[in-house]
Amino acid sequence: MSVELRPGSRDDLPAIAEIQAASPEASQWDVPEYLKYDLLVALCDGRVAGFAVARRLADGESELLNLAVHPAFRRRGVGRRLVEALTAGHPGMLWLEVRESNLGARKFYKSLGFCDAGCRPCYYPDSGEGAIVMNVHS
Ligand SMILES: CC(C)(COP(=O)(O)OP(=O)(O)OC[C@H]1O[C@@H](n2cnc3c(N)ncnc32)[C@H](O)[C@@H]1OP(=O)(O)O)[C@@H](O)C(=O)NCCC(=O)NCCS
Repeated sequence: MSVELRPGSRDDLPAIAEIQAASPEASQWDVPEYLKYDLLVALCDGRVAGFAVARRLADGESELLNLAVHPAFRRRGVGRRLVEALTAGHPGMLWLEVRESNLGARKFYKSLGFCDAGCRPCYYPDSGEGAIVMNVHS
């Protein structure tokens, strides 16, 4: 399977919306909002299979806002490629929040060198669940 990364555009929003809807563990954004930030898409054999969105907070400080890979394309290195590209494009500290219950994503981030940096109780309004704050320095 060939994986290609490129910046996301308005034309990618329907595919991103579909991936987000199939990924209830991810934050559920109004997808056009992603165009305001650094949006990357991963193409697998020409099809949008995943996306990642980040924003710069300050010099050397960025935040991963959301990340999801279509369930049909998981565990093939697509998420890793997206995060590696984001960390390369955002040198310094990269922060993120992940649901406490999202053990798969927490393991995924740990496998990429992220560390637990704190927690935010009752962070997610939909479930009242807490968030784990993680970061990595590159
Ligand atoms: C988290 C997510 C983006 C990972 O994407 P992916 O393309 O499947 O991940 P990769 O194939 O690059 O995984 C790289 C490594 O991370 C770890 N990993 C990935 N998913 C994992 C899981 N569910 N459980 C345990 N470890 C996992 C493994 O070490 C994996 O390497 P391996 O497959 O050789 O064992 C994907 O599962 C997803 O979209 N989840 C739903 C949305 C979500 O939770 N987003 C995060 C919001 S903060």
